[in-house]
Amino acid sequence: MDAFLGHVLILGASGELGTALALECAKSASLLTLWGRDRKRLALTAELCRKAGGTRVNAHSVDLLDLDAALAALRDEDDRTPIDTVIFASGLGDIRAATDTFDHPELVSRLYHVNCVAPSALGAELAQRMAARPQQSWNGDRKGHHIVFIGSAAGFAPMPFAASYAASKAGLARFADSLRIAMRPHGISVTLVSPGFIDTAAAHRVPGPKPFMISPQRGAGAILAAMRAQKAHLIFPWPFALIRLVLPALPRPIRDRLLRSLAPPVRSNRR
Ligand SMILES: NC(=O)c1ccc[n+]([C@@H]2O[C@H](COP(=O)([O-])OP(=O)(O)OC[C@H]3O[C@@H](n4cnc5c(N)ncnc54)[C@H](OP(=O)(O)O)[C@@H]3O)[C@@H](O)[C@H]2O)c1
Repeated sequence: MDAFLGHVLILGASGELGTALALECAKSASLLTLWGRDRKRLALTAELCRKAGGTRVNAHSVDLLDLDAALAALRDEDDRTPIDTVIFASGLGDIRAATDTFDHPELVSRLYHVNCVAPSALGAELAQRMAARPQQSWNGDRKGHHIVFIGSAAGFAPMPFAASYAASKAGLARFADSLRIAMRPHGISVTLVSPGFIDTAAAHRVPGPKPFMISPQRGAGAILAAMRAQKAHLIFPWPFALIRLVLPALPRPIRDRLLRSLAPPVRSNRR
């Protein structure tokens, strides 16, 4: 039987990976709180979770670009029912337009904010709230606190055609690792997930080949298993773990040429 996850908050639950994660959590959560922006898709995910797990489900539209409002919503949520598990599955995978020589400042700001600033700030707030709580237990088992950040394998290397995306995910990875080390003595596990390609509409909006693509359901299963095992870093599919080791070992001119050659025939996918 899966360990009880308590009150689970999932950000990006209106997205495809977020929906798959919510369905995975539905059976072992006492309360599932779903955040995203699109109210219709959130309501649909909430309904699917109720049917799948019979658990209580709340859904709220929260725009991470308004950080003050998002922090207030998080505090309010946590005051009402303390959050035991949070999964940051929100994110933007935008790349620059074909006509642009590099990312526009507006794109840089948006990607940093949604992919790095907001999850880091919300994660910091929640970690400190979790650490301040007395240790409790569910039915004799120690009550665990989990924080999961969905980064990207794109954060492993510079991406000349998706600089802000790669940098925002690299920043998030460094933050997650720092938070993990700091929170360990408080019994809070922090897991960073760096996926390669997941078969979602967002991934298909970015042109170019997508080797070793896996389904959101398989990805969600792997993420939940890593979280339960309190793994520091999950990279999937496994060839991306190899890429992470090999790329920095290459001489810079060879690495730069290789990274330049990976550039897809760029088109805009801005929303
Ligand atoms: N798919 C891949 O190949 C892949 C690979 C590596 C990493 N990832 C990461 O995995 C995560 C999920 O990706 P996905 O493919 O499932 O993408 P997706 O279907 O587009 O989901 C993205 C989620 O982020 C939410 N979001 C975007 N901007 C937001 C904002 N300003 N405020 C609040 N929520 C916002 C979206 O909400 P709305 O739709 O309601 O606006 C949606 O719920 C992302 O962090 C992504 O970077 C994906």
